[in-house]
Amino acid sequence: MSKITIAIDGYSSCGKSTLAKALAQKLNYNYIDTGAMYRAVTIYCLRNDIITDAKVDYDKLLASLKNIEVSFGYNTQTKTSEVLLNGEHVEREIRTMHVANNVSAISSIKEVRQKMVILQREMGKHKGVIMDGRDIGSHVFPDAELKLFMTAEDSVRTQRRLDELSSKGEYHTFEDVKRSLQKRDHDDTTRKENPLVQAEDALVLDNTDLSKEEQLEFVVKLIDDLLLTKDEFLKPVAKH
Ligand code: DC
Repeated sequence: MSKITIAIDGYSSCGKSTLAKALAQKLNYNYIDTGAMYRAVTIYCLRNDIITDAKVDYDKLLASLKNIEVSFGYNTQTKTSEVLLNGEHVEREIRTMHVANNVSAISSIKEVRQKMVILQREMGKHKGVIMDGRDIGSHVFPDAELKLFMTAEDSVRTQRRLDELSSKGEYHTFEDVKRSLQKRDHDDTTRKENPLVQAEDALVLDNTDLSKEEQLEFVVKLIDDLLLTKDEFLKPVAKH
């Protein structure tokens, strides 16, 4: 069956990566977490004093961009690809609140986005890829065959993020996490460079009341239907 490109965009902590990972395993597709790429760049910037308290030293960042290499390595235990910063595994470090509170400032910079988008297009050029982020359907792969725009109520997203953080030993109040999430959504939707927007042809998936299993089932059915029509489309015209 022919492979397609699946773009999943949406607000912070609404389960994009959970859905994308499960789909990738089910369909045997590559999963690319583009948020992890911006988070990895943010770690480099934090470590090298390019960003302090969400204030970016723009000139220093531009001069350093050539030294920042972001790639992915396959983790056989988790069975997903994980982000590498200059060859170093940073999957755990990128998920902290410290990184979350600084990543929007880094991801709003044009030159950073240009560098990441080139990599993303390269990784997705053979299709059979599921990419999640903010601008995948609207900018990175505007021709993706399936575009999902995910959302969920703020309080549900906050609780999910709080659970994720505490499972890793990081404890914060509900209000702090909610504020951080809302600020990120605001920054991501209002920035100048490729802001988070719903692509015109994206399907909205509000998973406030859906379990992981229900949302996976829903999207798998969607893809099955899409592939059926797509293959129908691709059948050679019968000769008479
Ligand atoms: O999905 P995430 O929370 O890991 O993303 C981290 C940040 O990176 C998010 O606040 C916005 C930014 N981002 C982006 O600007 N474009 C993308 N394609 C993916 C993420």
